[in-house]
Amino acid sequence: MVKFKKKSLSGSSKRWIQRHHNDDLVLKAKSLNFRSRAVFKLEEINKKIKFLNKKDNILDLGASPGSWSQFLVKKGFKNILAVDILNMQGISGVTFILGDFTDEKIQEKIKEKFNRIDTIISDIAVNTTGNKSLDSFKTNSITLDVLNFANETLSSGGNILCKYFNGELDKDIIEYVKSKFSKSKIIKPKSSRQDSKEMYIYCCK
Ligand SMILES: C[S@@+](CC[C@H](N)C(=O)[O-])C[C@H]1O[C@@H](n2cnc3c(N)ncnc32)[C@H](O)[C@@H]1O
Repeated sequence: MVKFKKKSLSGSSKRWIQRHHNDDLVLKAKSLNFRSRAVFKLEEINKKIKFLNKKDNILDLGASPGSWSQFLVKKGFKNILAVDILNMQGISGVTFILGDFTDEKIQEKIKEKFNRIDTIISDIAVNTTGNKSLDSFKTNSITLDVLNFANETLSSGGNILCKYFNGELDKDIIEYVKSKFSKSKIIKPKSSRQDSKEMYIYCCK
């Protein structure tokens, strides 16, 4: 009998499987009328850590094209405020602010609309340039702003889930979280491309 040695998958086979899985998620999102495959990341993370509570005032940062807000509406959440530097097609039940989150005027607008913020979800990512360290530096700088805003504004026991990238400034993010929040957890959802440096960090005040 001929015995075959069990070989681990080559890099190109892994990439092929990952691309295929990604395409499946794009098609699945379309078939369920979600605007982006990003919806599966939020769904997966919430299944794991169950941090979204129906009565919460939820701030969705970097919300466009809108699949996370769509998911919240579908699940029966009522108080959703979404913000993005790009326009977002309206979603019934979601208030939208068009603007740059790092702009103080936009942060003031958020505080005017919500007198209490219980949960922040941030999927903010800058447009990629191909220069990975520059991209992670730019996105992670905004993530630090988001965490700082969360630290100042979240109600007691409030939650934040935000995207960051492994790379420039990631250690600053982890240090900041450890010093300011009572609980934190780093998550890499299966629905996030495994070959990307994208990560999520969940923290509780
Ligand atoms: C990965 S997409 C978010 C996808 C979204 N969660 C969804 O489910 O459809 C990242 C978003 O971050 C937004 N963004 C980047 N920089 C921003 C900033 N400074 N303020 C607000 N939004 C920003 C981008 O315009 C983009 O729409």
